[in-house]
Amino acid sequence: MELKIKGNKLLTGEIKISGAKNSALALIPIALLSDGVVTIDNVPEVNDIFVLKEILEYLGAKVSFDNNVMVIDNKKLVNKEIPENLSKKMRASYYFMPVLLSKFKKVEMFFPGGCAIGARPIDQTLKALRALGGVVDEKDNHYCIQTEGLVGGHVYLDMPSVGATVNTIIAAVKAKGLTILENAAKEPEIVNIATFLNAMGAKIKGAGTSEIRIQGVEKLKGCYTEVIPDRIEAGTYVIAGALVGENLKISNIIPEHIEALLLKMNEMGIKYNMDDDSIVISKPDYKLKPVNIKTLGYPGFATDLQQPVTPLLTMCTGISKLEETIYENRFNNVPFLNQMGSNIEIDGRTIKVKGPTKFKGQVVEATDLRAGASLLLAALSADGETTIKNVEHILRGYDKLVEKLSAVGADIELK
Ligand code: EPU
Repeated sequence: MELKIKGNKLLTGEIKISGAKNSALALIPIALLSDGVVTIDNVPEVNDIFVLKEILEYLGAKVSFDNNVMVIDNKKLVNKEIPENLSKKMRASYYFMPVLLSKFKKVEMFFPGGCAIGARPIDQTLKALRALGGVVDEKDNHYCIQTEGLVGGHVYLDMPSVGATVNTIIAAVKAKGLTILENAAKEPEIVNIATFLNAMGAKIKGAGTSEIRIQGVEKLKGCYTEVIPDRIEAGTYVIAGALVGENLKISNIIPEHIEALLLKMNEMGIKYNMDDDSIVISKPDYKLKPVNIKTLGYPGFATDLQQPVTPLLTMCTGISKLEETIYENRFNNVPFLNQMGSNIEIDGRTIKVKGPTKFKGQVVEATDLRAGASLLLAALSADGETTIKNVEHILRGYDKLVEKLSAVGADIELK
């Protein structure tokens, strides 16, 4: 599939942000831990979620998904190996590792897939599962993990990995005794996950800080929970507002979750109006100052907004620098942005963006989810028509993308 975008149309009206993909991708497998029926509201309708639903049904769960509400009944769950063609579709498939291990004392799985943005090893998850009593047998890209019963343990993560933090919490929740997790990720999605589990009866303290304590419990009851707003989708549309907005309102957001982006926009000199859950933003008719950005774990500047913010840096007068510290290979958008008219140099893990430059429509390709979002933002502000190929990557993470952008005046078509 491809997107055709006729650029330079001012966007006006309101874009309502959906539930966070990366939160929902964890909440849904975690629902299998419950001893009752779980209802998850505000689930985005993105491709990754449909793959996850397929995996749940493959494992024997009963799942309904209407109007962004997913109801999961896992009474008839069976322990089967998830076929590789499903698990390699996304990174989040490895949340099934601790879920099935906790539930059935054994799990067999292939190495998880996901966007090709770096090596993305899973050593920290394996270390945590071992610390809690898992025995890991690893051959090529296949894992068989067994346990005689998970027990609490002391886990120190070498880096504050989101996935390893989630996996440790999952493994610890029904383990015997206390687990102490240090150097944990502090992302808002972790807080969403802990709140969800605590609503089921888990005993998790400290989520959102770097030390999380989990006291194992025997049972988890059914519950209702809501997915938090997607901070990366929010940031992407706020950037769209700064590129081509005319009083564009981005609503249903938690401004604090995108504070690092907003502070950088302040440094550039971009003005916007903000209230408790929305931001109104317009394309500036004044000169923007260059800025330096370094990606970091939350509350630092999100790596997932690094590629989307790059088109905005091309609007600044002077040289901006952007350093990617989380992934080794997250600049696949840059050659295409340059083809569209920007002046960006890649130097190891840093890019130097010399502006201001103007984008022109071209035929380009989305190589991964956020690279695709970056090209989409460039296309919205470009002169002429842009075709983005391999748009499946973008649709993995942006709910109702074409509908949302068309409704505020973008000329965008999905073919
Ligand atoms: N890492 C290791 N070993 C591990 C785990 C991670 O070396 O065992 C490294 C990774 O290779 C990477 C860094 O640590 O360089 C960060 O990885 P992390 O585990 O934090 O990321 P993740 O859980 O795999 C989630 C999101 C990503 C997002 C990152 C960072 C999901 C499904 N994915 O990935 O989202 O970039 O956190 O915030 O939640 C996206 O949405 O575009 C996306 C890639």
